[in-house]
Amino acid sequence: MKKKFALVAMAAVLALSTVACSSGGDSGGSGSSSSGSSSSGDVANKDKPLVWFNRQPSNSSTGELDMTALNFNENTYYVGFDANQGAELQGTMVKDYIEANIDSIDRNGDGVIGYVLAIGDIGHNDSIARTRGVRKALGTGVDKDGDINSDPIGTNTDGSATAVQDGSIEVGGKTYVVRELASQEMKNSAGATWDAATAGNAIGTWSSSFGDQIDVVVSNNDGMGMSMFNAWSKDNEVPTFGYDANNDAVAAIAEGYGGTISQHADVQAYLTLRVIRNALDGVDIDTGIGTADEVGNVLSDDVYVYNEEERSYYALNVAVTAENYTDFTDSTKVYEPVSAQLDESEHPTKSVWLDIYNASDNFLSSTYQPLLQNYDDLLNLNVEYIGGDGQTESNITNRLGNPSQYDAFAINMVKTDNAASYTSILSQ
Ligand code: BGC
Repeated sequence: MKKKFALVAMAAVLALSTVACSSGGDSGGSGSSSSGSSSSGDVANKDKPLVWFNRQPSNSSTGELDMTALNFNENTYYVGFDANQGAELQGTMVKDYIEANIDSIDRNGDGVIGYVLAIGDIGHNDSIARTRGVRKALGTGVDKDGDINSDPIGTNTDGSATAVQDGSIEVGGKTYVVRELASQEMKNSAGATWDAATAGNAIGTWSSSFGDQIDVVVSNNDGMGMSMFNAWSKDNEVPTFGYDANNDAVAAIAEGYGGTISQHADVQAYLTLRVIRNALDGVDIDTGIGTADEVGNVLSDDVYVYNEEERSYYALNVAVTAENYTDFTDSTKVYEPVSAQLDESEHPTKSVWLDIYNASDNFLSSTYQPLLQNYDDLLNLNVEYIGGDGQTESNITNRLGNPSQYDAFAINMVKTDNAASYTSILSQ
C-alpha cells in the first residue's frame, strides 16, 4: 500500500516537474498526501474502497469469517468492535452488581437469583458473544462443540433446561443459585431481529407468569433492554443491563437501569469513514489511525485493535455503570483525539454510499449514524445514507442501482452471510 502510493506520488511529481520546470522548480506537491487523482469515473466499481461495518461478513451458523468478502479488493476492511472483550465485560458487570447488592437482590428470598435474557439475533456474532459472556460470568453456560452454548432456552423456571445449567455465586460465606429463568431471540413476525417491541412483550409475558422470581434482566442490547425496563423493570425496581450506551440507556442509569457497555461507537464511526478517506487519498491506511495525520488526528491503542489477517478494525469496549455514567451522557459526540477537520484542498470531497441495515435499530439510528454524520463533514465525505427495513437484503441492494456514481461503499448487511449480494453488484 505504502509502496504503491510512493510510486504513484513519484509519477505525479515527475509529471508535475515536467510541466512546471519553466516556472522555477516548484516542489510543493512532493511528499504531500494530496493526490487529486481519482475521479470516480476512471475507477471500476470492483476496485473502489469497501468497508463492511457492524455486521461482519461471516457464516451465521458457525461464525466463520467470510474471507472472500473481507478480501474483496485491496481496499476492503471490516470495522466493528471486540465482541468477546465486550461480552466478558458485560457478564462481569452483571456479576459484580449481584455481588455488591446481594442483600437486596433476591426479591422473593428463595436463595435463587433468577435472570431473564433478551437475545438479539441468534446468527449475529455480537449477539452470540454477549449471550455466552453472561452465561460464562454467571456460571450458567454449558459446553457445545467446544464453546458455550448460546441457544435461547424458552422458559426454565424449574432449572431443567439442557442448553444452560444452574450456576452459583458465593458472597459472604453464603452460596446462591443463579438461574437463567428464560431467554428468547427477539425477532418480530416480519423477521426483524434485535426487536425492542418484541422484548417489551416478552417481559410482559414472563413477569405475569413468574415475575417474583425475576431478580435481574439482561439484554444483548440497550434497545431491547430499555423496552423491558420501561415496560416492567423500572416500576418493579429490577436492575436491567444492556449494551451500546445509547443516550436513553445511559440517562436511565439514574433511574435504576443497571448498566450498559459502550462499544466505542465514536471510534468505530470514525474508523468506518477514515479507512475510506485514506484509501481514496492513496495514503497509508494507518494515517489518522495509529499514525497521526497532518492535523493531529490519531487513535491510541487502548481504544482499538487492528487484525491484519482478518482485515478488521475492532474498537474496544468500556463498562458504563452508576459509577461513571456521567462521562457517557452524549453518545453522539465525536471522539476528541480524532475531531480535527481535514483540509479540503488536500482531501477533496468524495461521495460515499452507505447503508444502515435497519433504519429503526436503536443503536445504529440513535448513536452510530449521528456519529457518522459528524465525521463525514470532518473528513470531507459526502455520504448518502440508505436505511433498510431490517428484514430483506434486496430492500437495500435495490438502492445500489448505480454504483458508478460513488467513490466508495460502506455496507451494513441484514444478514452476515449475504456479502455476495453486494459484491456481485460491484463486480458487474
Ligand atoms: C448492537 C445492536 C445492534 C446490532 C445491529 C450490535 O453491535 O449492539 O444494538 O442492534 O449491532 O447489527
